[in-house]
Amino acid sequence: MKNTIIWESPSNIALVKYWGKMGVQLPCNPSLSMSLSASVSRFELTYSPKKPGEKDLTYLFEGKENKAFEEKLSKFIDSVSNDLPCLTKYQLKISSSNTFPHSAGIASSASAMSALALCLCSMQEAIDEMEMPRDFFLQKASRIARLGSGSASRSVFGQYAIWGEMEGQTESSNYFAIPFKGTIHPTFQDLQDTILMIDSSPKKVSSTAGHELMVDHPYADARFQQARLNMVELLDVLEQGDFDKFTHIVENEALSLHGLMMSSNPSYTLLKPNTLIAIERIKNFREKTQIPLCFTLDAGPNIHLLYPKADEFIIQNFIKQELIELLEEGKYIQDGMGNGPKRIK
Ligand code: DP6
Repeated sequence: MKNTIIWESPSNIALVKYWGKMGVQLPCNPSLSMSLSASVSRFELTYSPKKPGEKDLTYLFEGKENKAFEEKLSKFIDSVSNDLPCLTKYQLKISSSNTFPHSAGIASSASAMSALALCLCSMQEAIDEMEMPRDFFLQKASRIARLGSGSASRSVFGQYAIWGEMEGQTESSNYFAIPFKGTIHPTFQDLQDTILMIDSSPKKVSSTAGHELMVDHPYADARFQQARLNMVELLDVLEQGDFDKFTHIVENEALSLHGLMMSSNPSYTLLKPNTLIAIERIKNFREKTQIPLCFTLDAGPNIHLLYPKADEFIIQNFIKQELIELLEEGKYIQDGMGNGPKRIK
């Protein structure tokens, strides 16, 4: 007996950043993200009863072996088998692919681990021959995804998702993300995200190592407090539609994240000269035209340019006239707010 499950799950861009963790992959502060639409990972999981002498897991990335990731997945799957008892009885074949290029400044661990968590939860349902209530299923998938990669907990939901306990959101939790249930102002309902590829070379310091440097960071407490305040304000902004306030908070979060890297011990810098030139041009354009446009950064040099759909045309022109020369091979990826994971099979 063999069965196959396929899920596609998006990457997400954090607006309030998760940076610093404690215990078993629990965040030191709440974070808020927007799920993307075009940047997705697709996971195909085939399971059959375990047979002696056969491997419990084989993994292919875009049709090719990737032993390092296979090992990471194998450890992850072992670590969640208490939650998903079916994993002790079945062997798995997993293959995955991304719609976006590797090292594109798009968090592939978020989309990958959430797609995998969804596949594993669907497998448990199929074996138990019992569907979980939808909210419970998503909560469970988010919790499992979190154990694979913190930011993946938020990719289980579309639009805007909150991960981490916070004031005013009684359902929020450190263990799983929840969808933002407020009424999103039209300005933020179809937010565009153009990902500007400044540099695609592999990162010098992984996010996981970066989180660790927050343990003894001299600004840690102030940072976690700043994030808590930014969360409360930004959720209000999403409902009220004030793009200036949005810009202020989101850019403050992005630059604080990189400030923390530069002030950690050891310190490191992921921004590139062209990142700073692009930021300068974005700010000048905004000041000159008064057009709503804001940037954010992941743990890397590439820029996510966020703006309302209504201003797409003029901003695309600005990118072509003033930013494209700063980009690696002139590359950028057009994305925007998405509605969350999809089960394909
Ligand atoms: C800067 O979720 O990649 O993107 O939990 O160690 O897998 P691990 O880290 P990860 O960290 C993401 C950091 C960030 C901010 C964010 O997405 O909130």
